[in-house]
Amino acid sequence: MPMSYGFEQRITPKIQKIADHFGTPFHIYDEEGIRETGKKLIEAFSKVKGFKEFFAVKALPNPAIMSVMKSLGFGFDCSSKPEVYLSRQSGCTGSDLMFTSNNTTIDEFENALSNGGCILNLDDISLISKVPEMPELICFRYNPGNRRTGNDIIGNPIEAKYGISHDQVIEAYSKSIKRGAKRFGIHTMLASNELNYKYMVKTTEMLLELVEKINRELSVSVEFINIGGGLGIPYRPEDEPLDIVSLGNEISQILIEFNHKNGYSPKFFIESGRYITGPHGVLVAKAINFKNIYRRYVGVDACMSSLMRPAIYGAYHHITVPNKKNDKRDIVDIVGSLCENNDKFAVQRNLPILKEGDLLFIHDTGAHGSSMGFNYNARLRPKELLLKSDGSVELIRRQETMDDYLSTLNFQEDILY
Ligand SMILES: Cc1ncc(COP(=O)(O)O)c(C=O)c1O
Repeated sequence: MPMSYGFEQRITPKIQKIADHFGTPFHIYDEEGIRETGKKLIEAFSKVKGFKEFFAVKALPNPAIMSVMKSLGFGFDCSSKPEVYLSRQSGCTGSDLMFTSNNTTIDEFENALSNGGCILNLDDISLISKVPEMPELICFRYNPGNRRTGNDIIGNPIEAKYGISHDQVIEAYSKSIKRGAKRFGIHTMLASNELNYKYMVKTTEMLLELVEKINRELSVSVEFINIGGGLGIPYRPEDEPLDIVSLGNEISQILIEFNHKNGYSPKFFIESGRYITGPHGVLVAKAINFKNIYRRYVGVDACMSSLMRPAIYGAYHHITVPNKKNDKRDIVDIVGSLCENNDKFAVQRNLPILKEGDLLFIHDTGAHGSSMGFNYNARLRPKELLLKSDGSVELIRRQETMDDYLSTLNFQEDILY
């Protein structure tokens, strides 16, 4: 089921009032649903010693959402200075903050290590000497190359720019020891939007083999393993949801066995974004124009600058029309206003016949939706709203304005002759 049933029930009766009050388009997120999913995740991993979720801030970098994550006891996974800033503003630092960047600058390292620091996750062996001061606890992102365990969506690790190669593992940890590191973690991210939990189990086994190898060859124990994000959500109505309970149980079992064999087991971290917030957000847009040429098009008042996934990945986002489930239907393309032909939220989709002013729910925009927005064609990104647990609706990010767009044209003259 795309968009959680509870969310649909909660929002549908009030959607017209919300749209009239705030104006369309907007992303709206469901606090209740996010909390339920967060608790489900915690429950599924309750038998896993040292389990911690570091919410991937890039999925939904909004302080109101981050405070929900914080209240669930989650840390944050960041990949840039502004994400670190937002995490710190929400009161998160030190071992609650993981910094997983790539092609990192020294300035970014300095920022990540200041103000209480973070768990630094290094993407390459060449960065060891570039970290201004080696922290006591260091982590490396591992790229298994052809030892891959992940899915095809994320691509072939051999072609991926991320992480240290298999042959570099021992050298990386040994060099970081020489620079003063004393405590260690290992990270990888090998799947994206994966609904088959077995991939994550295989990834866990693979990282544990590496932990044993590092221990054998360098006599150091690795404190944690982090399997990254990639837990999938059912974007299509026919998709089966990820079996989070079995994932938690099997990982718990593997760690127990590791403990029997090695006398200890590392903590287990994930940095899920999509699974936590994805189904608990929708982009609400209004039908504004109808065009009949070789195909029938319905133009809405949002465009791909508010949701890029269909255009860049050909991703499916389910669309429903509130209160029009049983109406006569038509096959249409749902399009935005960008001068790009891939600015389509749906292609040849069977939908209830729409009229001007109808509202559409473009589902599952709670992760990698608004945050992937951009300004091409000088299109401005829409506002974000939160449907709170008490039923109220709060503006949590205003829409972009012309002034925001033009602000980077307001600068001190600077000419080099
Ligand atoms: C390093 C890293 N961790 C976590 C995530 C979150 O992934 P997801 O939202 O699919 O769980 C991403 C997504 O791009 C990522 O690059």
